[in-house]
Amino acid sequence: MQQTLIIDLAQHLGEEITLKGWVRTIRHSGKLLFIVLRDGTGEVQCVAFQPDLGEAAFDTAKRLTMESSLIVTGTAKPHQKQTGQFEVAVKSIQPVQIAEEYPIGKKEHGPDFLLSNRHLWIRSSKQWAVLRIRHAVYYAICDYLNQNHFIRFDSPILTPNACEGTTTLFELDYFDEGKAYLSQSGQLYLETGIMSLGRVYDFGPVFRAERSKTRKHLTEFWMMDAEAAFVEHAQNMQIQEELIRFVIRRVLETCDAELTLLERDKEALRAADAPFKIMTHRDTIDYLRSKGSEITHGSDLGAADEVLLTQDSPVPIFIEKWPKEIKAFYMKRDPNDPDLVLGSDLIAPEGFGEIIGGSQREDDYELLLSRMKAENMPLDDYQWFLDLRKYGSVPHSGFGVGLERLVTWMSGIHHIRETIPFPRMIYRIYP
Ligand code: 4AD
Ligand code: MG
Repeated sequence: MQQTLIIDLAQHLGEEITLKGWVRTIRHSGKLLFIVLRDGTGEVQCVAFQPDLGEAAFDTAKRLTMESSLIVTGTAKPHQKQTGQFEVAVKSIQPVQIAEEYPIGKKEHGPDFLLSNRHLWIRSSKQWAVLRIRHAVYYAICDYLNQNHFIRFDSPILTPNACEGTTTLFELDYFDEGKAYLSQSGQLYLETGIMSLGRVYDFGPVFRAERSKTRKHLTEFWMMDAEAAFVEHAQNMQIQEELIRFVIRRVLETCDAELTLLERDKEALRAADAPFKIMTHRDTIDYLRSKGSEITHGSDLGAADEVLLTQDSPVPIFIEKWPKEIKAFYMKRDPNDPDLVLGSDLIAPEGFGEIIGGSQREDDYELLLSRMKAENMPLDDYQWFLDLRKYGSVPHSGFGVGLERLVTWMSGIHHIRETIPFPRMIYRIYP
């Protein structure tokens, strides 16, 4: 019989249906057998009564274990106790495979054990919920961009040059061409794309050989880079704000059950869907110092500073106009202060830290060249990038969203490693 998905049960009340999935839990009492079956789209309790199945079939069904795969036919009906929920009165149960004793049980497991069993851990309900939120966030970002005339422009992963400095580059030998690097961000290539398509984005894995062992760092993560011609610094931040508020609303609308399962504070998410704050880097440092931080002017924020900064703010905060020494070579100088650049970091509330980095780009050939020379960059590898400033250079801006950072915030979970199917960190590459 054709498979019905659990998520569609409401449309099949009273009908005989077939469900296919796995045993979440199983228990029996006398002539009754209760199986919570999950099929990827949801979970439903299936209740089997021995006289309906026959004694032999009932005994076979009793041998099903946690995570065994099975096919159930029965009738869908409203749950006897929980309103809005359904259950299935079982007519037959067909085991597909009886699972061995499942290593992830009810007892508490340490993170190392769970990460080593990531291929199984993803079936747990919280992991399931986070992965579904990731899916929703991913498509919300694409929908916003598509609705706003950004064209997808896939950037390469194997590159001859660095985008975000050389300290976090993964290097490999590339045939006779010498060294190649795994991309840290597609931004530089997107800057070529706007000259053809106006507004572009990419969305894919990027790589950073991060030595940081924190709850916010992966060595392989997904980034959406967006870039737009004739957009300047202030409008660049406006686009980021619209995008993030669009994502928040989409997650609240489509992931209510997942957020509930994760015990996410939905009010906090709702409150973040309001005008974002903008502070200069200078004012940010003064504010943090007034709150007791020892951070000094000219330096980057640490994790504790990000927490302190947002602790009284329900909305994300843009930190703009950074000292040029601590930001990337491509950022445009502030015309009012040559020591600053027109860059912004967007800091999520509730201590979730930086979710976006962006800037207006230096569009003047000489200024860009002098900055690259000052940083001893290998100019030959960037000739194509400099060319853009020779042939119809325009003011332009862009930004990069860290997908896993955003999903961590939306889900309200502690560690970024749970937001990607197979996290890659400095101390972990298995499975
Ligand atoms: O701030 P970043 O380094 O900016 C860029 O790479 C720009 N080229 C983007 C652009 O303008 N198109 O990285 C962007 C975002 C960060 O704000 C953060 O959310 C995420 O990428 N990110 C990481 N996420 C997980 N693990 C890491 N190690 C990350 N490093 C950055
Ligand atoms: Mg950054």
